Amino acid sequence: MGAVDEVKNRIDIIELISSYVPLKKAGRNYKGICPFHAEKTPSFVVFPDTQTWHCFGACGTGGDVFRFIMQREGLDFSEALRELARRAGVSLAPPTPQSEEADKEREKLLDIHAAAAQYFHHLLRQAKEGAHAREYLTSRGIDSETIERFQLGYALDTWESLKSHLIGRGYAETDLVEAGLLVKKEDTGSSYDRFRNRLIIPIRDIRGRVIAFGARALDPNDVPKYLNSPQTPLFDKSGTLFGLDLAKKAIRNHDQAVVVEGYMDVLSAHQAGHTNVVAGMGTALTEIQLKLLKRLTKNFVLALDADTAGDTATLRGINLAHESLDRKVVPVLTPQGLTRFEGQLDVDIRIATLPAGYDPDDILRQSPDQWSEIIKNALPVVDFYLQMVSAQYDLTTAHGKSALVREVLPLLREINNRVERHHYVGQLARLVKVDERVLLVELDEGPSSSTPRRRQPLKVPSATEAPSGAQKRIFGLEEYSLSLILGRPQALAAADEELLSLELVPFSADDFQRTENQHLFLLLSDYVSAEFASGSSAEEQGQALVEYLLSQCDPLLQSHLNFLRERWETLPATSPQLLGKDLVSRVLLMRSQHLQEEVASLRFLQDEAEESHSEDQRLHYQKLVNAAKEQLRSIQYATDRRSIIGRRRAEAERLGVARA
Ligand code: UTP
Ligand code: MN
Repeated sequence: MGAVDEVKNRIDIIELISSYVPLKKAGRNYKGICPFHAEKTPSFVVFPDTQTWHCFGACGTGGDVFRFIMQREGLDFSEALRELARRAGVSLAPPTPQSEEADKEREKLLDIHAAAAQYFHHLLRQAKEGAHAREYLTSRGIDSETIERFQLGYALDTWESLKSHLIGRGYAETDLVEAGLLVKKEDTGSSYDRFRNRLIIPIRDIRGRVIAFGARALDPNDVPKYLNSPQTPLFDKSGTLFGLDLAKKAIRNHDQAVVVEGYMDVLSAHQAGHTNVVAGMGTALTEIQLKLLKRLTKNFVLALDADTAGDTATLRGINLAHESLDRKVVPVLTPQGLTRFEGQLDVDIRIATLPAGYDPDDILRQSPDQWSEIIKNALPVVDFYLQMVSAQYDLTTAHGKSALVREVLPLLREINNRVERHHYVGQLARLVKVDERVLLVELDEGPSSSTPRRRQPLKVPSATEAPSGAQKRIFGLEEYSLSLILGRPQALAAADEELLSLELVPFSADDFQRTENQHLFLLLSDYVSAEFASGSSAEEQGQALVEYLLSQCDPLLQSHLNFLRERWETLPATSPQLLGKDLVSRVLLMRSQHLQEEVASLRFLQDEAEESHSEDQRLHYQKLVNAAKEQLRSIQYATDRRSIIGRRRAEAERLGVARA
C-alpha cells in the first residue's frame, strides 16, 4: 500500500473534520457549516462511506482528507500528506541520509531564528537602548498589541550583540552565518551582526515559524531603508508573503486576499482589523506567491500606491526583474503576467489604486474608513490597464488610436476566456471608435485564408485553457461540423467531393478558428483518408475514429472530444451523401462569414494606412480586399449553383421524373 492510501486508511474523516467543524449526524452522513465560506445554514456534508466531503453551498468544493487539510491549512499536497501522516503516525518513505541531514539543518535554522526573534523582541520591549525604537513605533501609531502579534523587535546598535548572545546559548557561528544573521568578512573571515540599530520585523512562514527578518532603519541616514535576510535554506523571498500566518484565517473567511507593498502596510491593516492583508517582499509578485494564496482564496486584490500603479500600466510587456537590487521595485507583475496567471490559476485579480502620494499605511491611519471603499472599488486587471493606458494617448487621432490598440491587444491575447476577451475587445473598440470585428482580426481571431494576419502555430490548449466543466461550451458551426465528421467519417469524403465539383478547396483545418477544433480536424483528416476507403458501418467508423483520436490527442483535449461525441445524438440520421451536403452548407457558411469579417477588417487597416499616408500599405490592403471579395463571389456562385440544382431536383421529383 502506498503512503497516500495508508494515511487515508488510518485517518477517519469524521474525526478529522470534527476537530475543525462541529458536525451533526444526518442519516448516513454528517452535516455542518462549511468552513470555507460564510453560511448560515449547513450545506457542508461529510460522507463516511466514501471518506469524502462536499460543500453544496456557495463554494461547491469537495474532496478527500487531503483536500480538506490543504484547503483548511493552506498546504500543498505533499505538505498535507506529511501533516496527516504525522497525525496518523504513519512514517512516509524511509528517510534517506540526505533528507535527514537537510531536515536537521532546517530544524537548526528554525531554532536559531526563533531564538533571535525572542532576543530582538525582548530588546524592543525592555531594553533601555530600545527606547527610541519604541518611540518610533508609537510615532507611527503601532500599538503594543501589534508589537506582540507580530513579535516586533529591536537590534542593538553594536556589532556583536546578537552574535555573542546566540553563541552564548550554544549556537555555532557558522550556523548563524548560514542563517543570514551574521555577515562574514571576506578578508579576515570574522563575522558581525547583520542587523544593527534597526526595527526588526520577523518574517514567518504560513505556519507561523520565523524564517527571516526584515529590518527597518531607524536612523534616516541609514541605507537601505529596509534590510532583509539574504536567501537561506529557510527563506526564499519569491515564495514568501509577509503576514500570511496571521492573515490566512481572514483570507479564507472573507474569501479575499489583499496584497500590499510594505511591511508597515500589513501592520497597520491588521491593527485596524483588516486582517486579510499580506505583503510581497518588495519584489515583483511571483507566481509562487500567488499559488500560495490560491490555496486560501481565488480572489486577490493588489492595493498599489499611485506610483506603482502608474509604473505597472507603463510596463510594456516585460516582467520586471530588479529583484537583485535591495531597493524598492515595482511589486507587481506586468498586466500581461497577471492576466496570464488569472487564466492559468483560474483566479480573479483586481487592482485597487490609492490616492497619489499615499500608501495603505497612510490611509489606514488617516482615514481608516476609506480603506474598505478603496478595496471595494478595485478594478479587474484589464479594466485597470485599459483605463491607465488609454489616458496616455490622444484618442482623437488615428495615430493615438492605433498606438493604443497596439499596446492593449497583446494583453487581450492573454485572456483565455473567449467571452471575457470579446467583452474587452468590444470595450476597446468603443474606446477607439472602430468596428470590433476589425480588432478581432488584429487579435488573430478574424478570418482565415489570405489575410495579413499573422498565423499562430497550431497550439493545443493547455490544461487551464481547456474549457472547464462549469463554463458553457460553444457548439457553433465549427463544433457541429466536427461532430458530424466524427460521427459519420464518410461524410467528409462526400463533402470534399462536392466541394471539388464546385471548384472549391476541400475542407481543411483552416476552416476552423478555434485551435482545439483545428487540432482535432488535422488529426482526424489524416486518419479518415487512410482508413475509410470502404468497409465497416458508419457507426463503427465513428467509434474507431474517436478511439483513435483519444489515443492520439493530448489528454487535455479528451474532454472536448467527448463533448463533441455526445452531440452525435443531435445529428440527423441520414446517408453520408446527405450529411456530406449538410457539411458543405456549413463550410460555405463558415467561409463566407470569415471572408466578410476579413473585408471589414481590411477596410479599417486601409483607412488607417490612408491617414498615415502610407500609400503602399493602402494598396496592399486593397489587393487583399479584392482577393477576399473574389473568393466571396466564388462561394456565392457555388451556393447559388447548389440551390439551383437542388430546386431542379425537387421539381423533377415533384413531377415524378425518374432520376438517373
Ligand atoms: P516602501 O518604501 O514603500 O515601504 O517599500 P513602506 O512599507 O512604505 O515603508 P515605510 O512606511 O517608509 O516604513 C515597500 C517594501 O519594499 C521593500 C520592503 O519590503 C518594504 O516594505 N523594501 C523597501 C526593501 O526591501 N528595501 C528597501 O530599501 C525599501
Ligand atoms: Mn509607508
